[in-house]
Amino acid sequence: MSKSVLVTGGAGFIGSHLVRLFVTKYPEYKIVNLDKLTYAGNLENLKDIEDRPNYKFVKGDITDLNLLRNLFAEHKFFGVLHCAAESHVDRSITDPLAFVTTNVIGTSTLLIAAKESWAGAYDDKIFYHISTDEVYGSLGAEGFFTEETAYDPRSPYSASKASSDHMVRAFYHTYHLPIKISNCSNNYGPYHFPEKLIPLCIHNIINNKPLPIYGKGENVRDWLFVEDHVRAIDVIFHKGKVGETYNIGGHNEWTNIDLVKELCRQMDEKLGREKGASEKLITYVKDRAGHDLRYAIDATKLKNELGWLPSLQFEEGISKTIDWYLSNAEWLNDVTSGNYQNYYQQQYEKR
Ligand code: NAD
Ligand code: DAU
Repeated sequence: MSKSVLVTGGAGFIGSHLVRLFVTKYPEYKIVNLDKLTYAGNLENLKDIEDRPNYKFVKGDITDLNLLRNLFAEHKFFGVLHCAAESHVDRSITDPLAFVTTNVIGTSTLLIAAKESWAGAYDDKIFYHISTDEVYGSLGAEGFFTEETAYDPRSPYSASKASSDHMVRAFYHTYHLPIKISNCSNNYGPYHFPEKLIPLCIHNIINNKPLPIYGKGENVRDWLFVEDHVRAIDVIFHKGKVGETYNIGGHNEWTNIDLVKELCRQMDEKLGREKGASEKLITYVKDRAGHDLRYAIDATKLKNELGWLPSLQFEEGISKTIDWYLSNAEWLNDVTSGNYQNYYQQQYEKR
């Protein structure tokens, strides 16, 4: 059996943690990382493992069927870990088509390449699609998303991810392609691009810039440390049932305003600032269009069937994350120069 695994989007936030885990934990696997290197893809995220003999990087687009056919023919992958996506809700509001292109057409193209290459010889093959809890829509104050919750996506991002999940399931039901899907809550940790709430606020606190809180800051997210997410993916990839969906979450709900205050508290201590100094940077700005109120995951199935549990308490995970950003100033400076400045201006200066 071939031991090659295709990871798509491995130069992004979650993908880079996934590639690192698989390259180090499974030396018998060859990990091929296919990434287009959009603004969100960064080979610096993989500097520490780029010379490993069982790792190979390929620059390319998941919408390119010929490229995918050639890669499948060359490496005879037994597994696909599909992470590549346009991932930021705010960008999906300004440019929905980019999300349809990569998330819907790209995922469909990858499914076609896997189906053609495996040609019905599905024993020991796995097409694993990494998805999000946002496909389930928005919760009120009560309740949790389970694997049975009906899809109700409300942003162009979540609608494109929901479409991709449907295509993956359609290939399972129609062609028996051996698929697995997981839907995870909000991740945080090292290498998180500073367009997302936590790294954006860490970057702004360091630089004494305003901390933009959308609306009243009452929206709730369920935060999970990224290394716990990729540990769950590892367990599902190797032990999960074909055709099944698993929800992944941390049972760790925070309103945005409480979360940002906790960041401020920890960063004041770490930066030796006066207590309360960073909180003064909090600035309420115009709300995100169609802003989902609350996400919360019920991960009982994953715990009961596969024994996965999150390993880190949030305060500890956030502390580790802040420490990483403080010791990786060069990474942060590199990703926030150039185009990031234009993005930031367009996104925030008129709010
Ligand atoms: P990210 O934006 O940090 O990284 C995406 C990666 O995909 C980048 O390296 C980018 O260059 C690459 N990419 C984009 N378009 C491509 C294309 N057409 N072809 C090849 N590569 C392409 O995203 P992330 O936060 O790491 O999310 C990874 C996956 O996990 C996504 O599918 C996302 O929907 C899902 N997810 C993310 C979170 C989260 O909190 N970040 C939570 C649950 C699920
Ligand atoms: O739930 C999983 C999803 O989590 C993933 O599928 C997405 O890829 C990922 O980006 C994330 O989506 P969110 O929209 O929840 O994450 P974001 O960090 O953009 O925003 C978190 C919350 O903070 C949300 O309620 C909006 C708010 N926010 C965000 C930004 C960037 C602010 O108040 N101010 C900001 O500047």
